[in-house]
Amino acid sequence: MPILLGVNIDHVATVRQARYARNAGSINIEPDPVEAALAAERGGAAGITAHLRQDRRHIVDRDIFRLKEAISTKLNLEMGNTLEIVAIVLKVLPADVCLVPESREEITTEGGLDCVTHRSLLEPTVKALRDVGIAVSLFIDPAPEQIAAAAALGAPVVELHTGAYAEATGTARDAELARLIRAAKLAAETGIQVNAGHGLNYTNIGPILTLPKLVELNIGHSIVSRSLFVGLEQATREMVELLNPQVFNTDGDLRLS
Ligand code: PXP
Repeated sequence: MPILLGVNIDHVATVRQARYARNAGSINIEPDPVEAALAAERGGAAGITAHLRQDRRHIVDRDIFRLKEAISTKLNLEMGNTLEIVAIVLKVLPADVCLVPESREEITTEGGLDCVTHRSLLEPTVKALRDVGIAVSLFIDPAPEQIAAAAALGAPVVELHTGAYAEATGTARDAELARLIRAAKLAAETGIQVNAGHGLNYTNIGPILTLPKLVELNIGHSIVSRSLFVGLEQATREMVELLNPQVFNTDGDLRLS
């Protein structure tokens, strides 16, 4: 099975908001995250990921509705567990939702969701989203107690937080990789789909491909960064090739569809 790539396009919106957040009426607004999503799809993305944050620092509500309409793969919406965002998601009805912890001070999602401590708060949200057919994923640290809590919550998917691995070097990095491998194995044995993401890039991705039963990786910052030099379609294609070396034939066409 190929490893699927979800391309997170938040930072395309970050560039737009840097100029136009306070000038939303401008006739010059760019870049468009929807255009970015279509380019990522042409490069072989299996899905488009976007995080509608409470502070709307990058993706805004309109983007989500437009993305859902425009893309031909699947939309994976990342969200914090708030009633306001749940209400929006129930209107958009993305294929996937990934519940993440969210604090206004953070630069990006910093830790995994604590499903042990917040179980009673998460329970109604997981249920409400599952009841309308959304595949709910919980973004968790690769810890056995978090996987047990995710299972108890009835989440069909977890996304293992690879941030600690991405930030570590030497033996600490080996230890983080081993934690991820143990967590992936445990999740799969528990019947939960294994996704992973955060902090992954073109150079640290290799060892992550050894996670057992890995289905999908969500990658944003490094792909958007590389797209400045080679374009988003090509930056996506290069990552898809790293995940699945056999995917493209010699003409550069996708072999899988
Ligand atoms: N997965 C989750 C749950 C995230 O919150 C993020 C960051 O928005 C990513 C993956 C992508 O992380 P990065 O931008 O570091 O690739």
